[in-house]
Amino acid sequence: MKKIIFATNNKHKLDEIRKITDGSLQILSLADIHCNDEIEETGSTLEENALLKARYIKEKYGYDCFADDTGLEVEVLGGAPGVYSSRYAGEACNPADNMEKLLHALVGLKNRNARFRTVIALLIGNEKHFFEGVVNGKIIEERRGEAGFGYDPIFIPDGYERTFAELGNDVKNQISHRALATRRLAQFLTGQ
Ligand code: IMP
Repeated sequence: MKKIIFATNNKHKLDEIRKITDGSLQILSLADIHCNDEIEETGSTLEENALLKARYIKEKYGYDCFADDTGLEVEVLGGAPGVYSSRYAGEACNPADNMEKLLHALVGLKNRNARFRTVIALLIGNEKHFFEGVVNGKIIEERRGEAGFGYDPIFIPDGYERTFAELGNDVKNQISHRALATRRLAQFLTGQ
């Protein structure tokens, strides 16, 4: 079975991606290769951040590797918080702080259009590839639902009436930005 490093220790993401690839790949986390380094996300785009994480592992350990970066891009905010989604309300903030800041920024605004965008950078052999997944939707006015993480309680994907946090992981894993990008990655890897 093909072995590949996913440059993350985020358990949600590992579970999600392992479910999507359904055992067809052996996906190892940073913990699995005993990498405890904090890889700083200093890029100004999702592509740059994904690539710098994958490149760090490839250069230090020599393994084929992929890394992802995701942002929530809100139309009326010119694509913010985007690449800064995890620290929208400040460096030491949590998802509740980020959601509160975003809801506050949108108070009274009719245009609630937003999209989640995931970029995966893959470094395999001497090749570099990018895979993208996008889900369009809307930001609601208050939090709903308990599942998922990040901005899930305030995002309703187009075609649904419930937030990602209400839809739950099984539905989310079928339709999410990360699922789309991951399926494209998996298709590429299994076709190799
Ligand atoms: P990351 O690049 O996956 O670390 O994502 C950056 C930030 O975007 C996270 O800290 C979350 O706040 C948010 N985010 C990423 N993916 C999701 C998701 O699937 N649902 C909700 N928020 C997400």
